[in-house]
Amino acid sequence: MKVLSLGYLGIGAPDPQQWLTYGMEILGLMPARALPGEDWGVPMVGSGPASSGSGVGEDGSVYLKMDEQQWRIAVHPSQDNAGLMYMGLELAAEQELREAVLELQGQDIKAEMGSAEQARQRSVSGIAYTQDPAGNKIELYYGPTKDFNFESSRQMKFLTGDKGLGHMNLFVADLDACRSFYSDLLGFKLSDYMEFAPGMSVEFYHCNGRHHTLGLSKVGDLNALHHLMLETTDIDMVGRCLDRVQKAGIKVTSTLGRHVNDNILSFYMSSPFGFEVEIGYDGVVVDENWRPRQFVEGDVWGHHGLDPIAIKETAEKIKV
Ligand SMILES: [Fe+2]
Repeated sequence: MKVLSLGYLGIGAPDPQQWLTYGMEILGLMPARALPGEDWGVPMVGSGPASSGSGVGEDGSVYLKMDEQQWRIAVHPSQDNAGLMYMGLELAAEQELREAVLELQGQDIKAEMGSAEQARQRSVSGIAYTQDPAGNKIELYYGPTKDFNFESSRQMKFLTGDKGLGHMNLFVADLDACRSFYSDLLGFKLSDYMEFAPGMSVEFYHCNGRHHTLGLSKVGDLNALHHLMLETTDIDMVGRCLDRVQKAGIKVTSTLGRHVNDNILSFYMSSPFGFEVEIGYDGVVVDENWRPRQFVEGDVWGHHGLDPIAIKETAEKIKV
């Protein structure tokens, strides 16, 4: 199977409205111009989607846009500690989607094609469902709906395209099983890895030019999303975002710094719910000649607050 990119994410949070404000005012995202599954109307004659670009669905779900894709991040109402609800992984076309389902089923992994209506509810042309060994719900899809009118009220521009929406770092309890699932079955390739302490390690995997789309971290028995990284196209966008974060009193969980592995210059903050968000710039691009490397430390400089002890503390907080 060849996954092309991480195309969309669904997260659960007690108050999606908080995420709408945070997404727009701090991250510079835009509410989706139409909700997934919604009729676009006929823009040429002045009719448009019923949601009129509010980004908010009838059930209170919030849909955010960061580029030419109709939407990238959905936040669904959830009173529980829901965190990551699903991730959308893009495949090339229908044939690849059908083959992927058969391949997973052939390995005794539960996988099934979704209906046309289910695909429409995500604004994609075809969809299938499976799950990783950590219990994360995976939606394989092809043919996302494009809508080129992205405008950030905070003048943000994100590096996406064939690199997908960014990267995710997941805590996984069973690293061996997840490694095998993502690399042997889904075709992700190891970029680098680090071992910070006995029983604590992180492995970084790519599926396109982005150094890693997926980080798999083993910190005890926890399965959860540690952070989501969005990459900008300009260092000043990182700096201005950091200004907005500090002005709003949002906790900076890791100071500005440059990672050893993907060379990204970034900082981390608390999001309105559970996991952290990293905003970065200048990530290295990998190609088929890339060879995995092992590191003993995470940073060239900075990123104070992102150390094994702090990561363990975050893991414990998420667990509660
Ligand atoms: Fe990261």
